[in-house]
Amino acid sequence: MSAGLDPVRGQGRRAFCAGCCALLAGAALGAGEEPGRRPDAQPEKTTRETRATMPAGTLRDYRKDGAFFLMADAAGIYAVTAICTHKGCSVYAQGGEGFHCPCHDSEYDRAGHVTQGPAQRALRHLAVREATPGGALVVDVGREVPADERI
Ligand code: FES
Repeated sequence: MSAGLDPVRGQGRRAFCAGCCALLAGAALGAGEEPGRRPDAQPEKTTRETRATMPAGTLRDYRKDGAFFLMADAAGIYAVTAICTHKGCSVYAQGGEGFHCPCHDSEYDRAGHVTQGPAQRALRHLAVREATPGGALVVDVGREVPADERI
C-alpha cells in the first residue's frame, strides 16, 4: 500500500507537518526581536572595504557575499539589498546608474527607488557600520534602515 492511501500514516504525516510549522512560526515570531530585523543565521557581512576605499560614486557588488550593494554618495556610505521587491530575483547594477531586474524588467535608481515597474517598493537599505574606527565596513543584511541613513 502506498503512503498516500494509508489514512493512519497520512494523518501522522499531517500532524508532524503541522507541528513543524507551529515550531517554525514560533521561532520566526521570536519575542523581543528588534524591529526591522529579519532572521538570518549570520546577518553581518564583513566587506573588503573601508571608508578610505569608498569615495562618493563608488558601487561595490556583494551579491555573492550577502546579496547587497555597498555604495557611497556625497552624504556617505550606504548599502541596499540586491533582492528585487517584486518577486525576489537578484538585481544587477547598470553601469553605476542604478539597478535592473532581469526577471520582469523592474528598474531602480542608485538610491533604490523604483524608476520602472512592475516593482512597487524601493530596494531595502541595510545597516552599515565600521568594525573598528577606520576598519572594515560591515553590512547587516538582517537590519533595514531608513533610506537616507549614511555613515
Ligand atoms: S522579480 Fe524583479 S521585476 Fe519581477
